[in-house]
Amino acid sequence: MPSRFYFDTVLDEVDICNLHSERTRIAAAIGNGEKILLYGRRNSGKTSLAKVMAAKWKAGPGHGGMFVYVDFYGVASMTQIASRLSAAMAEGYKKAFPARAALSAALEIAKSLRPKMDFDPDGEISVSLGLTEGPNKGVSEIIAALGAMKQRKIPVLLVMDEFQDIHQAAEAEGILRGCLQTLPHDIPVIILGSKRHLLTTMFNSPNAAFFNWGTHIEFGDIPYDEYWGYMSERFAEVGLSISAETSRILQDELDRVPEAINRVCARLCNQFPARGELQRVHVHEAVRDLVESRQSTIEQYLGRFTEDQERALLTLARRGGLERHPMSRDFTAAARLSLTGARKIFAKLEDESAIYRRGDGAYLFTDPLVRLHLLRFRGN
Ligand SMILES: Nc1ncnc2c1ncn2[C@@H]1O[C@H](COP(=O)(O)OP(=O)(O)OP(=O)(O)O)[C@@H](O)[C@H]1O
Ligand SMILES: [Mg+2]
Repeated sequence: MPSRFYFDTVLDEVDICNLHSERTRIAAAIGNGEKILLYGRRNSGKTSLAKVMAAKWKAGPGHGGMFVYVDFYGVASMTQIASRLSAAMAEGYKKAFPARAALSAALEIAKSLRPKMDFDPDGEISVSLGLTEGPNKGVSEIIAALGAMKQRKIPVLLVMDEFQDIHQAAEAEGILRGCLQTLPHDIPVIILGSKRHLLTTMFNSPNAAFFNWGTHIEFGDIPYDEYWGYMSERFAEVGLSISAETSRILQDELDRVPEAINRVCARLCNQFPARGELQRVHVHEAVRDLVESRQSTIEQYLGRFTEDQERALLTLARRGGLERHPMSRDFTAAARLSLTGARKIFAKLEDESAIYRRGDGAYLFTDPLVRLHLLRFRGN
């Protein structure tokens, strides 16, 4: 039986551990047409939960509305932003109005986008939008079309993922903020992001376009006992059990990052031949095997960093993977870096999402497997 520990994928509701308060707050925000920013470290379940909540909203009474999900990962220009948005809008149309007549009526509302409906050889509907005159106008037309739908009583929900990446595109923040301001105030908008430092610049600095925008919700660590319950249930299906203490060791070993925890748990399900209670040693074996199996992938990933950057990462790993004062003499001396060098390197590592800065200012690895890899293959 395949295990029910998933990774590298967006999760269904039943496979999302915990996140109860986040769930309730997102549901309320969607219901009240609020604006929310969801942020947290990578692989903390943001996309999964936003998609699950959107699906519930769509299936809710009297809805069946227009859900637009756009992922801005890696965008660097307004042209890319406009093209991601137009593809997302077309997808939203197709899902919201699968019947031809309803789709025609909905496309009629957005005439300025020059929507085009086609049928592929199997009779499936496809929609494309011919944007007029350049990306800035295109973006504002798409957002305006959402407003027009809402005015025709079609419920609308807009979700923008990896939003911090628009920071790379000149003027994008001002333009998007301007467009969003023209929307009817009761359209719920959810923004998601994983780079806290960029989001802070975008949402918390007084001269930023998104200053004071929406309610901010941070995804934190899942309580140990909640994850213990979640893994116990799944282990039980394959005849395994785990004590609260061993489960805690497992979670700590992986810096409490759900995706890495799931990878190890899946390994334990598949590889542990004798059923029964998992012990500490089994956890360590599974982690070790996982690190070995990911060796070439992580080596390839590390290839993007300079020697100095890698040394900073290695120093962070050797010092336990959690650093409150990376600019301290202690740290810079251990990493053989100047203070200026350390500043630049930490900024770069944060930009690259190799490290994450928590609310309390401490830095940690985004992916615990990178930390474990460095310890294993660069010597202790
Ligand atoms: N609450 C959770 N319960 C169980 N697994 C989780 C949870 N949150 C995240 N995961 C794990 O992390 C993986 C990624 O989840 P998801 O894409 O929703 O996270 P994310 O926060 O959007 O990540 P990113 O910042 O990289 O976009 C899942 O496939 C799963 O392995
Ligand atoms: Mg995500």
